This record gives sequence, C-alpha cells and structure tokens, in this order.
Amino acid sequence: MNVVLGVGGGIAAYKSCELARALMQRGLSVRVAMTSGAQEFVRPLTFASLTGQKVITGLFASASPEATLSSAVEHIGVAQENQLLAVAPATADLLGKFAHGLADDFLTTLYLAFRGPVVLAPAMNTHMWQHAATQANLAALRARGHRIVEPGDGYLACGSVGPGRMAEPEAIAEAVWAELNPRRDLEGETVLITAGPTQEPLDPVRYISNRSSGKMGYALAEAALQRGARVILVSGPVRLDPPQGAALVPVRTAIEMRQAVFDHLDPATIVIKSAAVADFHLASVPSHKVKKTAARISLELDPTPDILSEVGRRKGDRLLIGFAAETENLKAEARRKLETKNADMIVGNLVNQSGTGFESDQNEVVLALRTGDFVELPRASKRELADLIFDQILKLRLARYATQS
Ligand code: PMT
Repeated sequence: MNVVLGVGGGIAAYKSCELARALMQRGLSVRVAMTSGAQEFVRPLTFASLTGQKVITGLFASASPEATLSSAVEHIGVAQENQLLAVAPATADLLGKFAHGLADDFLTTLYLAFRGPVVLAPAMNTHMWQHAATQANLAALRARGHRIVEPGDGYLACGSVGPGRMAEPEAIAEAVWAELNPRRDLEGETVLITAGPTQEPLDPVRYISNRSSGKMGYALAEAALQRGARVILVSGPVRLDPPQGAALVPVRTAIEMRQAVFDHLDPATIVIKSAAVADFHLASVPSHKVKKTAARISLELDPTPDILSEVGRRKGDRLLIGFAAETENLKAEARRKLETKNADMIVGNLVNQSGTGFESDQNEVVLALRTGDFVELPRASKRELADLIFDQILKLRLARYATQS
C-alpha cells in the first residue's frame, strides 16, 4: 500500500524521518511531500535516502531547484496513487489551511484533491495549540472524519512545558496502520452515547453547569463509528462538531437528557453514559430574571433524575457502561457505582489532576468490572482510550455469549 507523508514546517519534522521508517517497516511505500517550511528544518535528501523515492518539494517545477515533479498536475496523480495521506508535523498553519480549503502549495493542494483517509499529527507551541482558532480548525477536521493523533504533554522546543509536542512516530504509524486496516468489530451494534455537561437554569439568564467539554464522549462516538457501529450521540451543550455519521440529539438539561436517552433506547445494544449530568437543579425556574435586591440569596435545589440508574433498571440485554468522575477513592467509588447502578462496567477517572479528566485531550482511567477486577489503562489521548474501552466492552460481549451458550 502507498501512503503520502506530508511534512510541515516545525522542529518536529526531524521526528518524521523516524515516522517514515516506521511506516516502511509495516510494508508501506512512503512518498514524502515537504512544505517549504519543512525544508528549513530537514533536507529533502534525508527523506529521499530513507524512502528510496523522490521527495516532492513544491507545486511548480520552477519553484525549487530540487523540484521533482513530472507534470503540472502531479498533485492529482499523487492523490490517486496513494491510499492514505498522513501529515506530521501538522502545523497550526496547515490545520488552518486544511480546515478552510486554502491551497497555496503542493501539500495543501494535494489535501483538497485527496479522497482517502487522512491522519494528522499536530505539533506546535502550547498556546498555539490551545488557541480557540486552532481548536475550531481541529474540530472541523475531526468532524470531517480525519484521525487526529493528539500531541503529548512535555518539554517543547520553544522552552515551554505543556501540550503541543508531536506524538511519538510509533503512535502515528499505528494510527496510520489502523486507518488502512480498519477494524469493523462493532458492525451491527447501535451505541447510544451521552456526552458533555448539562445546564440547569436558575432563571432565563443564569444556569448551573460543570466543566465537561464533551471530548471524552465525542472520542467514544468517533471510535465506535470507525469500527462500524451506528451511533446515537445525546449531547449537552459543547463546542465540538459531532463526528461524521453520528445521529446527534442535542439537549440542555438533565431532564431533556433523560427524555432523549429513553426516546432512543430501543435500538441501542450498548449504552455509554460519559456525560457529566448535573446532580441537582432548580425544580421550578422563575420566568423572569432574578433581581439583585438582597445581599445574599440561597438556592434550594432538588435532585435530577439519575439516568444511569434508571437505564440500569430497564437495560434488558444491553451492555451498560457508566463513568465515575472522582477526586479520591477512585476504585472504591467506581465499584460502588457499578453495583448501585446495575452497570456492566464503570470507567473511573480522577478529575482533580492536571492534564486528565475534564476539558483535557488526554485521560487516565480505571475500568471496574463485574468480576470484581479492575483494568488500569495508561494515560493516553481520549481517542486512544476510546478504542481501549471498546476493546473491553467487546470482551464483555464475548463473555456474555459464552455464558449464554
Ligand atoms: O467531557 P470531558 O471534558 O472530555 O470530560 C470527561 C468527563 C470527566 C466528563 C468524563 O470522563 C466523566 O467522568 N463523565 C462522568 C461525569 C459524572 O457525572 O460522573 P458521576 O460520578 O457524577 O456520575 C456517575 C455516572 O452517572 C455517569 O455515568 C453519569 O453520566 C451518570 N449520571 C449522573 C448523574 C445523573 N443525574 N444521571 C446520570 O446518569
């Protein structure tokens, strides 16, 4: 199989030499296309020597003395000859151009002409990564079905420490391999996923909510779709685009979420409750804005419906997976929720440590099982963990078949 490796202009370009080798070790033929920025960091000759193929260095033969194009429409030929486009490092500039369809060099033109799967490994300074513009571009690219290999946390070339460091070449090569050899082991399943926070109004302008971004739930939806499942995504208010192919059911409050879950429960074979549902709400919301007349006010809140418990009581043959967001006693709390809510598995995560839990791109979880066992998963991107969580769900499915037969 043939892949194009697009190399953007960032210091992580040197790691892409290692990536080219990792791809070739998997038997893939690798054609490298470098932006002009990339050529400031690594010489095309390095990639040519590693891959044994001419490196594409520009859109026009006259643009570069090292140009290697054989035709004026080479980007179309390259798009047709290759099964996958991987871009590493995908700089903030490239993500922006891909998201908005700008095509002013070979790689961005190739991107528009390309019809196969796309894998993007971003790398940049932490502030650039966290910028709203970059995150909006990523959301658009993710929603287009591209696989984003999240950058890790760590020491960056610019001297800062935080997210933005390109994923390791082996992890990117694994993601490329998974895209080329998609697992369809969730075919025939309908997965109902809840994601994001709920907002509980206090009056027409104020509400109570929490820090959930929806990233964990949307990563689960993306993984399930890629593995062949039908996905119903019941989502609280988030700033993410739903993955292509998911049936999105937007909700705001816990009561709306409960209604949406039961409206769509019938076809579901797997239910995953990753949403951070408010536990309390104002049962009777005033229709007017509450005036600032007193120095202090107190709120009397009522419990919201416990959706997970209710599904647990009515789950039938479905596999029911809950989450537990804890700040201490993770395993004990996960086990308690497993039992009291009649779930088949609880995904426990600590939400008071930096870089995991709410809002972050990574997470670190422990799976509590009905056998009494715990499976500890390593810190990884929410997308990678989503696959590991589905691997465990499929083991539960197999174990259930085994006891039934
Ligand atoms: O969205 P992100 O920013 O990516 O963050 C991910 C996450 C931290 C929100 C996610 O990993 C997570 O932990 N989700 C569950 C959050 C939560 O509400 O946990 P809990 O321990 O309070 O609730 C336990 C379970 O009961 C959860 O499955 C929850 O969806 C469910 N629940 C809770 C209250 C309620 N009224 N109804 C429910 O169904």
